[in-house]
This record gives sequence, C-alpha cells and structure tokens, in this order.
Amino acid sequence: MRLFHSLPLISFAAHSCVAEPSSEPQYVFSNPPVSESGYRIPTSYESAVLGRRILALSPLGTVGTVFPSSSDGHFSSQENRPDGLGGMPHALMEYVADCEDEGNPTFLAINIETSFKNVRDGSNISLSQQWTPRYPPDKRIKSTLFDWIFGRDKSEDTVPYSAANLPRFSLLGYIEKIDSMPTEALASCFVSKHSDAKYWLPGNRIHFSEFVRLVVTQVYWVGGFGDRAYIGWIPVEEWKNVTRKEWEAVTLPGEKKGWKEWTVGDL
Ligand SMILES: *[C@@H]1O[C@H](CO)[C@@H](O)[C@H](O)[C@H]1NC(C)=O
Ligand SMILES: *[C@@H]1O[C@H](CO)[C@@H](O)[C@H](O)[C@H]1NC(C)=O
Repeated sequence: MRLFHSLPLISFAAHSCVAEPSSEPQYVFSNPPVSESGYRIPTSYESAVLGRRILALSPLGTVGTVFPSSSDGHFSSQENRPDGLGGMPHALMEYVADCEDEGNPTFLAINIETSFKNVRDGSNISLSQQWTPRYPPDKRIKSTLFDWIFGRDKSEDTVPYSAANLPRFSLLGYIEKIDSMPTEALASCFVSKHSDAKYWLPGNRIHFSEFVRLVVTQVYWVGGFGDRAYIGWIPVEEWKNVTRKEWEAVTLPGEKKGWKEWTVGDL
C-alpha cells in the first residue's frame, strides 16, 4: 500500500519571494501541505521497519562513547591522551553490519580503537545512522521563487537531496561479545559488506579484534520533517520485533530513480 502520496514541490502561497536562507524554524511551516487525502504520519512501528531497513543497508555509522573520568579507576591503556577528557563525548565513524538481523548492530571491535577503549572502560555506546539516497530526487525542493524560475547551478548542490527530510536514528545501549554465532559466519557476513575488513578479522597478527553487538536499549528516531514523519522514541520491543520480511518489503526515499523529495518512504 502506498501511504505517502506525491506532494507538490512548490507552495507559492506559503513562500516568501524574499531570498531568505531556508534554515529558520519557520521554514518547516512553509513545507508543501500534507493535508491531501489519505496521508497520515507513520506510526512508531512503521518507522521501526524503515529504520531496520536503514540498519540492514547502511555500511557506516557514527559511534558515540564517553571518555572515562580519572576517578573511575582502571583504564585500559588510556595513556597518551590529553588531560581533562573524562566525561567528554567522543563520536567517530565505524563500520557497521547487521549480521544477526535482530536489531542489534554488529561491529568488528579492534582493541586499539578509542571508541572500544572507552567501552572497555565502562562507557555505554550510541550508534547514529542516516539514510543516504542512491539517486538524487527528480526535482529538488526549491526554497525561493528565484531558484524555481532560474534553477540552480547543479555543482552548488553539495547535498543533492534534503537531508533534513530523510530518516535517521540513534541506537543507545551497551556492547557485548557475540557468542551465539560462529566467528566464521560473522566474518563472512561482515566482509561481504566491508571487503577490507578481512585484514583485521579476529586472529589477525596485528591487532586483537572481536565481533560484538550493540545491545539496543533505546531508539531515537527522526523520520524527516515533523509534519509528515514520526519524530521521537521508538519502543525497543517494536524495534526488535521487525522481521526481515517486513523491512525487505519497504522502500526508502531515493532507493529507486524518480522519487519525490517531499515524501518519507513507501510502506
Ligand atoms: C549505561 O547506561 C545505563 C542505563 O541504560 C546506566 O544505568 C549506566 O549507569 C550507564 N553506564 C555508564 C558508565 O554511564
Ligand atoms: C511483537 O510481535 C509479537 C508476535 O508477532 C506480537 O504479539 C507483539 O505484540 C509484538 N510486540 C510489539 C511491541 O510490537
């Protein structure tokens, strides 16, 4: 069923002709209307289905951890660090896979990485991922009448889609080693997504590494603009309940050519 109807790309009435940058909060109020028949904001469960598809398809994410404070006692080789990092948030890109397909992301943790050092020193962890369209939309959202009439130089379009209207999420929880799957199966799953990771699989001669899962305890979701997408916490049972069949059946914006920038996905 197609829930998200095509929406007009331009709303003259709501747009000022003055060439204001479109980052002010009131920009949201000048979105094309979503009052067309049949439209409704997706539920948290439908959002979880989209999110599980993003997790399954996205190879990268940003991992957030917290540096241990010096009063926490034991540190795993936190030497060679500047003073005063205790309690500081730290975010860095990480390879991600979805080998278990149960909502808990898979990482290949390397012991010398700062993120996993923080985890060893007791930090919880978050993983942020956002959906990146494979194709630019047929037409961009135009923010001014000037843009609409004269178009824009494509080379200025450094983000050729409205990232603010695309789904993203943050998974919060803690790390634990994966014992429930053979290392060979995890390695083959992980390397199918990250072929260079074959050089630092567990047992390599350079760095200690192991497969771990982020045990998700909370899910924060921003599906896009709030007048057409769900924004808020997704109950973790809903996140974990999503089946492969369900996330395989949905389409994210820009997975296929010819998509409309104002929509949030096809469920
Ligand atoms: C990790 O998060 C849990 C809540 O899920 C909290 O009880 C615990 O104190 C946190 N650990 C650290 C080191 O902040
Ligand atoms: C999870 O799925 C089971 C079985 O389909 C269902 O009974 C239960 O209500 C679901 N829970 C949530 C939170 O969606």
